[in-house]
Amino acid sequence: MHLLIISTITLLLSINTAIAAAPNKIKIMADACLTCHGPNGAGAGKIPELKGLEKSDITESLFGFKSGDEKSTIMGRYAKALSDDEINLLAEYFSALDK
Ligand code: HEC
Repeated sequence: MHLLIISTITLLLSINTAIAAAPNKIKIMADACLTCHGPNGAGAGKIPELKGLEKSDITESLFGFKSGDEKSTIMGRYAKALSDDEINLLAEYFSALDK
């Protein structure tokens, strides 16, 4: 009986960790974007701000950079390294920053 309770708790804990991992991963990826895009996505010098953009603006830009349809100096390389899921999650993250 004790074993059952312990294994149920262990299972629940591991499910919890798995659920927490996804937003954490996006937060870490987003922090890497902020080294260029400024604290809190506010922009820096010639680098555009991300904060306050609509989710659809961000996905449109990133998919454009990824395919090469949207010209870029830097973002093409970054966007090519992102999966479609990561683009959607990052867009969600940045569009929610200012709300
Ligand atoms: C090395 C610096 C650098 C990093 C890191 C970087 N960006 Fe950028 N970003 C730029 C520059 C510069 C532009 C302008 C387009 C270009 O020339 O590449 C840009 C443009 C953009 C745009 C278009 C904004 C607009 O209003 O047109 C989006 C969206 C964007 N970046 C998202 C991201 C995301 C998400 C990440 C993290 C995965 C990221 N960037 C990481 C430098 C960077």
